[in-house]
Amino acid sequence: MNRRLGVLISGRGSNLQALVDAIRDGRLDAVIAVVISNRPDAAGLQIARRAGIETLCLDHRTAASRDDHERAVARELRARDVGLVCLAGYMRLIGAPLLEAFPQAILNIHPSLLPSFPGMNAQRQALEYGVKVAGATVHFVTEELDGGPIVVQRVVPVLDGDTDATVSARILVEEHRAYPEAVRLVLSGGWRVEGRRVVRTAGDAPVSGRPLPGGN
Ligand code: GRF
Repeated sequence: MNRRLGVLISGRGSNLQALVDAIRDGRLDAVIAVVISNRPDAAGLQIARRAGIETLCLDHRTAASRDDHERAVARELRARDVGLVCLAGYMRLIGAPLLEAFPQAILNIHPSLLPSFPGMNAQRQALEYGVKVAGATVHFVTEELDGGPIVVQRVVPVLDGDTDATVSARILVEEHRAYPEAVRLVLSGGWRVEGRRVVRTAGDAPVSGRPLPGGN
């Protein structure tokens, strides 16, 4: 698979940083071709610039329509020969223009164990619900919000004294592990989607590089 990534952000960019670090450390064989933000003030743009990655700001507020904005994003990604799009705190719903330009080639990271707690403030939703475990999910993006096939999930405990901030911080540590791991699996090509399930195809190395229990 084409190993050129396009990362879309709207804010802080810590998951972008995790991808940059994984590539730099040789844990992920990929190139970030471009980072696109829909917000000019996104802190993640600085992360990209520091890493020497091309940045673009395509402000959705200046586009004629939602579709127009997305078409512009898709055009810039295609112009840079991007093979896999990574949403990393990108606060826009994804519609037909991007889904059609990148079929089964857009990933998102969400701070909950989907299908629990889709949408905004997932960590707070989980805490208020009273769950005992929370976590992070990397999934393929489909037209359904936070609803596509799951690539990687990682779990954290929810402790009695937790606040939104403490549980979010614990989940974030796992997000930063999960995203490079998921990108690595997807780029390896050793998977297929069966129904809703992303399954590894025979002979592919486990994502972690370690044998799975049961000798899979
Ligand atoms: C993360 O919690 C991610 O799961 C969610 O938005 C947040 C983005 O954080 N989709 P960052 O910009 O990557 O630091």
